[in-house]
Amino acid sequence: MLNFNFYNPTHIVFGKDTLDQLNTLVPLNAKVLITYGGGSVKKFGTLENVIKNLPGRKIFEFGGIEPNPQYETLMKAVDIAKKENIDFLLAVGGGSVMDGTKFIALASKYDGDCLNLLTPDFDLAPVDSAIPLGTVVTLPATGSEMNNGAVISHKGLKVPVFSMHTFPKFSILDPTLTFTLPKNQVANGIIDTFIHTVEQYVTYPVDARFQDRTAEGILKTLIEIGKTTIEEPTNYDARANLVWCATMALNGLIGAGVPQDWTTHMIGHEITAMFGVDHGKTLAILQPAIWEVRKEKKREKLIQYAERVWNIEEINNDLKIKQAIEKTRSFFEELGVKTHLSDYGITKDKIDDLILALEKNHRTSLSETGDLSLEISREILEKAL
Ligand code: NZQ
Ligand code: ZN
Repeated sequence: MLNFNFYNPTHIVFGKDTLDQLNTLVPLNAKVLITYGGGSVKKFGTLENVIKNLPGRKIFEFGGIEPNPQYETLMKAVDIAKKENIDFLLAVGGGSVMDGTKFIALASKYDGDCLNLLTPDFDLAPVDSAIPLGTVVTLPATGSEMNNGAVISHKGLKVPVFSMHTFPKFSILDPTLTFTLPKNQVANGIIDTFIHTVEQYVTYPVDARFQDRTAEGILKTLIEIGKTTIEEPTNYDARANLVWCATMALNGLIGAGVPQDWTTHMIGHEITAMFGVDHGKTLAILQPAIWEVRKEKKREKLIQYAERVWNIEEINNDLKIKQAIEKTRSFFEELGVKTHLSDYGITKDKIDDLILALEKNHRTSLSETGDLSLEISREILEKAL
């Protein structure tokens, strides 16, 4: 096992009818800025319920954070936070709202050019404080509710933001708040969770048995409940399992002490930035192609994945790997998500633009060992057509 630091201070409140706990979680005299997206939380009553559970606080609202939150939009909220001396931020929404709110938290306390907070190389943002934030999750996918990362869009690139000050103080995970999600967003969430897990698991072995078995547990759970939670949106148990898997896949636990890849995410972010394809869908397109191209490098872990996650036994190892990749693709397709670039109208002539974007965003040596060059990214994109 590799050496690691594990730190995660986020208080999780999980379950039905837990919004009333906001009243104890948010400081009593706080000036609270509630942030949200394009309106789903208004339409389905979540925002009203949140406000009802914050008696006595001075409440401000900032709506309109778009999927793939834009720097310019977030800077408008920063103006409000500064002008009104906001001392608590409450994100009500999915990954985009939570990520955007982390950026607002940092930028509101930063005196320099806020573009400095966007760090393509995953450095910590140059800040020593942030407005404390909490979240109410309405879309299980990104794990943003229990980590300190965010992805912010600026000038056609998706750029990471990291800080030790952006762990949410608390997150409320009430699976019933996610019942209103459209099927395609639930599928995106299942795939995002699946890929977060394999980015930290299908690398090379370091005898990290707990991390491997926990990752396998998440993957098997997603395979078991995936179709059910899409087809039966109000099936509480199926959805509750998805919500908890999404959080656990990216809160640092399964990634502690193991190599991490993140190639799928880094190339996927460029596809989203350029063509607007949902984050989860870019991952479904890329993962099978990446494994095809990298199957020798990832051989041992792919065999373990085939045996332990898909129960593929009694055939030779090459066939195990082949079948595991095929089963993964079929799983995504059965969730209603297409797995080829051409399904989204992205043709071969666009690959040059994607390679240029990867270069511009410093994505020239990806993977768990840093050996994945732009040439290999091109091979992957060609395979994903
Ligand atoms: O904007 P509203 O009207 O709220 O609608 C949203 C949005 O259109 C809708 N939605 C959310 N909850 C709903 C709902 N509709 C009905 N009922 C509900 N309960 O869903 C749409 C998508 O929301 P979004 O927040 O964009 O999706 P997701 O949670 O998948 O977040 C994606 C963003 O997270 C980033 C991605 O890059 C992308 O920008 N990521 C963040 C990570 C992190 N912080 O650790 C890691 C991830 O890998 C990812 O990169
Ligand atoms: Zn993701």
